[in-house]
Amino acid sequence: MSKIILITGASSGIGEATARVLAANGHVVVLGARRTERLAQITAEIRANGGVADYRALDVADRDDVKAFVAFAHERFGRIDVIFNNAGVMPVSPMNALKTDEWDRIIDINIKGVLNGIAAVLPIMEAQGSGQVINTASTGAHAVGAQFGVYCASKYAVRAITEGLRQEMTSVRVTLISPGVTESELGHDISVDSTATDVKQLRSIALETGAIANAVLYAISQPDDVDVNEMIVRSVRSAGHSF
Ligand SMILES: NC(=O)c1ccc[n+]([C@@H]2O[C@H](COP(=O)([O-])OP(=O)(O)OC[C@H]3O[C@@H](n4cnc5c(N)ncnc54)[C@H](OP(=O)(O)O)[C@@H]3O)[C@@H](O)[C@H]2O)c1
Repeated sequence: MSKIILITGASSGIGEATARVLAANGHVVVLGARRTERLAQITAEIRANGGVADYRALDVADRDDVKAFVAFAHERFGRIDVIFNNAGVMPVSPMNALKTDEWDRIIDINIKGVLNGIAAVLPIMEAQGSGQVINTASTGAHAVGAQFGVYCASKYAVRAITEGLRQEMTSVRVTLISPGVTESELGHDISVDSTATDVKQLRSIALETGAIANAVLYAISQPDDVDVNEMIVRSVRSAGHSF
């Protein structure tokens, strides 16, 4: 059955790949992110391949903007079956570099962005009597690494929020996906050179984004009474690493 699926952070990486895979599997996708020229191009390519897609500018850190994004999709397609709260940033750094503005950005986007997504869809999904919230955490929600403290804190928070929501919901499915290192633009904004070099090295074990997109498709495709609550997806090359 075709579902109406909202994807935050759909302008690159995991969100973009997921939009393409879900649309290719017959779902209707609504893409959100700040870089609208990218969204326009991805949407046009999905449509050219026979898919149904639309997009809207979105800043997940802005609660009213997230509400407006959800309202846009609801008005356009009549229901919201799934929200994939995927937008995130990773400007990691050693704690004593005191990158306090970057700490704030991580908290505003990775934690509050997910909460804003949940708040915007929950009344609609509860009124429908169905829906699915899928949140992107990370293997960094299961283990902490040096220089990743604030980022991991944000992902531990997403994991806790997701499990809390799951325990409360009777008609809405709740899924946490924790990718290991995955090829994407994540970390492009790391401002400490030595940290950027460390993260670049980690990329040698990166998964392709399609692996995460397929996991999201799997969680969405299960029968209505099957709630895939948690998935960790790593490259087989990650042996010896927590990430
Ligand atoms: N790649 C990995 O190794 C990995 C591992 C574990 C978890 N993750 C998680 O996977 C998710 C997706 O990241 P990615 O790896 O695909 O990286 P990416 O290529 O950098 O994608 C991040 C997406 O988030 C969007 N975004 C950032 N800030 C936003 C905001 N304020 N409002 C709306 N959208 C915003 C970006 O779009 P705009 O800049 O256009 O807004 C972009 O579309 C993140 O939550 C990340 O933490 C990634």
